[in-house]
Amino acid sequence: MRPMTTIDWKDVQDAAAIIRAGGLVAIPTETVYGLAADATNDRAIASIYEAKGRPRFNPLIVHVTGAEMANRFVEMTPRARALADEFWPGPLTLVLKRRPDCPISLLASAGLETLGVRAPAHPLAQALLGAIDRPLAAPSANRSGAVSPTRAEHVRESLGEAVDMVLDGGPCPVGVESTILKLDGEKAILLRPGGITAEEIERVIGRPVERADQTAAIEAPGMLASHYAPNAAIRLEATSPGPREAFLAFGAAPANHPHTLNLSESGDLREAAANLFAHLRALDALCAEEKLNAIAVAPIPDEGLGEAINDRLRRAAAPRQK
Ligand code: TXA
Ligand code: MG
Repeated sequence: MRPMTTIDWKDVQDAAAIIRAGGLVAIPTETVYGLAADATNDRAIASIYEAKGRPRFNPLIVHVTGAEMANRFVEMTPRARALADEFWPGPLTLVLKRRPDCPISLLASAGLETLGVRAPAHPLAQALLGAIDRPLAAPSANRSGAVSPTRAEHVRESLGEAVDMVLDGGPCPVGVESTILKLDGEKAILLRPGGITAEEIERVIGRPVERADQTAAIEAPGMLASHYAPNAAIRLEATSPGPREAFLAFGAAPANHPHTLNLSESGDLREAAANLFAHLRALDALCAEEKLNAIAVAPIPDEGLGEAINDRLRRAAAPRQK
């Protein structure tokens, strides 16, 4: 284990090469270790969910060098800027609106219109972000349901071979996850308490912070009413599409159906997860344009990443919360 401030540039270069190639690197942050991948690479993001063994797609926090980089991806409102000026780099995640041209994987934000961004204060995390000049999506580097790792050894114990490299930055000085604050119009909503207190935030924004329902906001972000749901009706377990349906295929598909997108022709679940949100959106738009009745969805095996894909599809097919 190394002291936190020593930077081994060879390690940083190796980590950067792995990230650029779509691999996974566990990185130290001041809060906990994160399991990082290129946030713009859908396949790499799918590997994160696979490595964590999560049965659901939870939105991931996207790590940036600072406010300037964040501004490429989300709308940094004046209040967001003020908070970033005060607390970044540091343990504050801001949930903000994605820019229309945001290149971050839709899978990273689980199909939401918003994105959680933060600038980590750990010098190794900053060195890696600077070296790749790309955003890094990183949930805590533990298997789903396990406690967050605060030492490199914890990551190796929890994730083993599922991670391509562990950047050892010593023990994490803060040890609890970042505070998550959602800025929505006039509102500032605390989604998760963490390294920065509500009082500290209130001092900067000059108004009270609202507390979100913990269970709804964090345990089940996929159930939030704001979660992306297609406008089109969804028909699951469809072995073939009807004439007035769009088709979300998986594996072999009828060659001549005009409105088909395939999650993975080869039946690869990682590729399917990577394509899921983008394909759903595209078919939803197509249904509106072509006045189709529904999106028919091929059966997806309920194993590995298939479990999370099916969870998301069932939500998309469920009656809408209005
Ligand atoms: O300190 C931390 O925040 C660590 C380090 C690695 O940065 N990361 C972390 O990530 O704790 P994770 O995946 O374990 O927790 C991320 C949580 C999600 O479960 C979700 O509740 C919330 O952040 N989140 C992320 N993006 C969101 C969004 N767009 N809207 C609402 N909640 C979001
Ligand atoms: Mg976590």
